[in-house]
Amino acid sequence: MSDSLIEFSHLSKIYDTGEVKTYALRDASCLISSGEFVAIMGPSGSGKSTLMHILGLLDRQTEGSLLFEGKDVSLFDDDRLAQLRNQRVGFVFQSFNLLPRASVFENVEMPLLYDFYSERMNRRARVEAAVASVDMSHRLYYRPNQLSGGEKQRVAIARALVNEPDLIFADEPTGNLDSKSGLQVMSTLQDLNEKGSTIVLVTHETATAEHAKRIIRMQDGSVVGDGHVAHRRFARSLEDAVLK
Ligand SMILES: Nc1ncnc2c1ncn2[C@@H]1O[C@H](COP(=O)(O)OP(=O)(O)OP(=O)(O)O)[C@@H](O)[C@H]1O
Ligand SMILES: [Mg+2]
Repeated sequence: MSDSLIEFSHLSKIYDTGEVKTYALRDASCLISSGEFVAIMGPSGSGKSTLMHILGLLDRQTEGSLLFEGKDVSLFDDDRLAQLRNQRVGFVFQSFNLLPRASVFENVEMPLLYDFYSERMNRRARVEAAVASVDMSHRLYYRPNQLSGGEKQRVAIARALVNEPDLIFADEPTGNLDSKSGLQVMSTLQDLNEKGSTIVLVTHETATAEHAKRIIRMQDGSVVGDGHVAHRRFARSLEDAVLK
């Protein structure tokens, strides 16, 4: 059995705008172990992104507990939380969130700039390796507006993995992509998982979720289903996808 990486119980998140209170999460509980590949599914507004932001230490819950490797992170101040996040967690957002004026190299380098200890030469090697792992070495000095949607998403994945996080969150990473680019992104995530990264993926596409090993279902802010994927899909390699 692998170790518990994230354990959350009775989580709630209330957005209070003064007039209305929105329960984005209510009484959500689950455990995710190190090395898992989990897909979170559920209708729009069911709390998937909210949960991902809290589990990824970008936001805090209103009630309930969140343990990261057994440690109660609600006791951490913002600096300690940010440090843990920078060292351990990578994010891939649906809208890519790339800096428009920066090159592929500079975008991927960004998370390393927060890392006080990473030397400049070492940084270059790490950026180049991350970019190569998503097959984007030939576009190292392109800017985002010179890239296709699938290429931007692959750059966003390179940025998420450049600091070798053990935990990667991807919110609808294939949402804006054609099926070939989507398969390529899933293939990259599967490779990372096989190398030991824990992956938490939000998707509304069943076919995409079936690349994961486990599917958690959300409804109205709660976890309502949790099961292993019986017949897992494997993304074909880039060459196969191009040939077919
Ligand atoms: N900053 C906010 N202020 C107020 N309400 C919010 C805020 N962010 C999210 N919500 C509400 O919380 C609920 C859950 O939102 P969330 O973004 O987590 O849903 P989701 O499952 O990711 O949906 P989608 O599939 O459309 O991305 C929604 O009803 C949303 O309107
Ligand atoms: Mg969302």
